[in-house]
Amino acid sequence: MNQTASVITAKVGLAKAKDSALLIGFFKDKTGLNAELSELDKEYGNAVSSYIKGNSFKGDKGEIKSIYANKGIKNIVLVGLGEEEKYGLDVLSNTIADASKRMRDSKTENFSIFLESFKGRFREEDCVEKAALGILMGVYQFTEYKTKDKDKIKKIRQATIISNSGKTFDNEIKYASAVADAVNKTRDLINTPPNVATPEYVAGYAKEIAKKSNLKCTIFDEKQIESMKMGCFIGVSQGSINKPRMIVLEYYGAAKTQKPIAIVGKGVTFDSGGLNLKPYPYILNMKDDKGGAVAAMHIIEACARLRLAVNIIVITPLCENMPSGTSFRPDDVLKAYNGTTVEIKNTDAEGRLILADALSYAAEKKPQAIIDIATLTGASLIVLGYAGTPFVCTDESLRKRLNNASAKSLEKLWELPLWQEYEDSLKSDVADVKHIGDEGEAGVITASMFLKNFVGDIPWAHIDIGTTVWSKVDKGILTKGATGATVRLLMEMMREWK
Ligand code: BES
Ligand code: MN
Ligand code: ZN
Repeated sequence: MNQTASVITAKVGLAKAKDSALLIGFFKDKTGLNAELSELDKEYGNAVSSYIKGNSFKGDKGEIKSIYANKGIKNIVLVGLGEEEKYGLDVLSNTIADASKRMRDSKTENFSIFLESFKGRFREEDCVEKAALGILMGVYQFTEYKTKDKDKIKKIRQATIISNSGKTFDNEIKYASAVADAVNKTRDLINTPPNVATPEYVAGYAKEIAKKSNLKCTIFDEKQIESMKMGCFIGVSQGSINKPRMIVLEYYGAAKTQKPIAIVGKGVTFDSGGLNLKPYPYILNMKDDKGGAVAAMHIIEACARLRLAVNIIVITPLCENMPSGTSFRPDDVLKAYNGTTVEIKNTDAEGRLILADALSYAAEKKPQAIIDIATLTGASLIVLGYAGTPFVCTDESLRKRLNNASAKSLEKLWELPLWQEYEDSLKSDVADVKHIGDEGEAGVITASMFLKNFVGDIPWAHIDIGTTVWSKVDKGILTKGATGATVRLLMEMMREWK
């Protein structure tokens, strides 16, 4: 993680600005200079206008051109924003992220951004927040396990957002920094290899978070999980020598009388598939199967850091799904914490089993809502690809909160239905239910239908980050590996929770 990067704001005339680089945004075919830019241009001997006149820069989306100016500003960087009609805060955030990566790769440790030129039709406050998130998420790197040439790792130290409106944007910078930190720490822990990040390790990590942020932290070990009769959770865990843990973190930012919001996160530290072993290459990256749990832990930490006025309880079952002589098997019948018997058909559908017990445990706490985050299905890739995250929801007001947070946080969500037809596919010949539906049919929904048996009548949403937990590309706010999915989304939701 790039711990040294920070974003600040400043009020300074452009022509007087001093920095290693200055980023200026231009819409496609709108490369004229306003008064402030003209002044800068004059100060720099028409460097900008003559460069643009030479047709070397058009403002195409993704275009980044650097002019060596070698004065107060060392490099003037022209950044293409694409067509103005298609411009959104997502383009702003991703473009600034890409430009930040470019700065870093060219060993520019400090740079400034001329906010006005990136503003489009948006509020300056929103632009500052999305710009800061773009920078801090875009330049993330996971270098923990590199031992060679550590000193050659390129880093951004400081980005300065220049605005002359007189506002300091303290709240926006504070919020964006806390959220970006949560995203990047989530990425760090998900990226941490499974031989290191065992359930015990993640539980120890949670304890540290709790101590630093003053959260209540309870950790259940395998004996306690067993004596609580969490039969599904124990079933999945029993094949590994790395013993399970369940973490419960609590934050009270509102009156104690206000019911908490429960966030439940799937924490499979490595999903081999169990006896239904995943074949290569599907077994790769399965350290990301703890993504829901890790996101939830950092969401509650960031809520505490920002002192948001909500009560939150995070519940994360952590275990490893491994094949061995002690593994659970297909045909086993497991008894869930809420008493439901479950017929096992495929040991690779383990996430819904550990969630079943964690969800009923959450429901017992009578929260005002339960939201679970889980890398639950490969089928999520079929439904929405990498562009967005599918979810299901049983409650209108929770649905509104999620859709609203999705729009504001720029994390795309799309709801799938919970129709009766899907429930029928979970009927079992020997137990109350089986845990998977018909092969190849509506995998995201049938998994959700199974989970629905364990939340009682508490308003509930399930977010399936099976696909969006991970990125194959290093582009915009994304970097290769863990994405930190749902952190921005749920932070936005908690920020507005009333
Ligand atoms: N953790 C996986 C889901 C997953 C797979 C996430 C690939 C990201 C990439 C989950 O435990 C799983 O294996 N699900 C199975 C369920 C099936 C056996 C019903 C799946 O989706 O293939
Ligand atoms: Mn699995
Ligand atoms: Zn899994």
